[in-house]
Amino acid sequence: MSAIRKLTPFAKEAKQKGLKVYHMNIGQPDIDTPEEYFEGLKNYHKKVLGYEPSEGIDELRSAFSNFLGKNNIDYSPEEIYVTNGGSEGLLFSFLMICDEGDEILVPEPYYSNYNTIANSCGVKLVSFETFIEDGFHIKSKESIEKVITSKTKAILYSNPSNPTGVVYSIKELQMIADVAHENNLYIISDEVYRELVYDGIKYESIFSIEKIREHLILIDSLSKRYSVCGSRVGMIATKNKNLREEIVKLCQSRLSTSSVEQYSALNLLKIPTSYIENIRDIYQERRDVVCGILGKIDGVKIYKPEGAFYLIASLPVDDAEDFCKWLLTDFNINNETVMFAPAEGFYMNNEVGKSQIRLSYCISVKDLEKALHILKEGLRSYNNKN
Ligand SMILES: Cc1ncc(COP(=O)(O)O)c(C=O)c1O
Repeated sequence: MSAIRKLTPFAKEAKQKGLKVYHMNIGQPDIDTPEEYFEGLKNYHKKVLGYEPSEGIDELRSAFSNFLGKNNIDYSPEEIYVTNGGSEGLLFSFLMICDEGDEILVPEPYYSNYNTIANSCGVKLVSFETFIEDGFHIKSKESIEKVITSKTKAILYSNPSNPTGVVYSIKELQMIADVAHENNLYIISDEVYRELVYDGIKYESIFSIEKIREHLILIDSLSKRYSVCGSRVGMIATKNKNLREEIVKLCQSRLSTSSVEQYSALNLLKIPTSYIENIRDIYQERRDVVCGILGKIDGVKIYKPEGAFYLIASLPVDDAEDFCKWLLTDFNINNETVMFAPAEGFYMNNEVGKSQIRLSYCISVKDLEKALHILKEGLRSYNNKN
């Protein structure tokens, strides 16, 4: 069951009772989808909605290539394949490098849908731990090496990370690259939040490390940066010729991705980079508000996330899932309450995450302030009751 949606039935009941629920459980941007996207839809005038090439339309593969080039990530259009969101790119990666029973390493906590994809492919995820005290940065090369087995095929991570917001430094990426290089592993670099990096930190993709390029699979998506989660446009890229042959087969197995969406996506990739910089500033302000408020709540432990729009907070409760559920079923302030994702589902070792929540800051500053006030008062009331 998805950690993000597990408590949805309780949120639904709360709404049926007439409560307003602030959703800090899900990474669904609230920012308006750019007008350019809808113009793209309106200007789609083909008479027949036919299949498009399985690999994606040439124009979009070129547009992705240009877009990545601006970040010094150099893939030719032929090395890029359009997918149904980053999710399908991840699925393709698992399918093409793993046999049933093979293992993929992930820093823990990790994006919970990696589990869903692994399960559907018969792949086992194996985690290496990162800790809230370190802002979820990778401790050492050894921490990764010690979980490698003869079945390990790849190292997978999201950078910036969902659910922690950590942005890996070039030193950490070098550790990953060294481990992969020395052990002949693939690297699946999930970069769907690439531009959402704060405090002037310069984003480095592992692509910059030349020696692993043949083993690198890059995943990207338009969902988050352009607020188009529903349009399902993403991509997978690799320099590895053998892998590209496998990707083509997988693309052909599902014939085509949406034609209309691909043409509309072209418009998004033409938007000046100042648009994304503006979005980044909005999220940075929200992150600062969230950290400022959480930092003042007794017993709540946080760190400052450097990117994406998520944060893991440790709460002064034994069972964060029970607390999150209670907020929806038994607590409100002026008929308003808040929904978080219990962090347990982002861990393999469930005990560690038991007192933690993952929250997303995809709602306005005003709503964040109200939602976190409910959290603060809720903690007081819950702990008095127990
Ligand atoms: C880390 C990460 N990777 C991939 C995805 C997949 O997004 P999409 O399939 O919408 O591109 C998400 C969505 O939340 C995510 O958080």
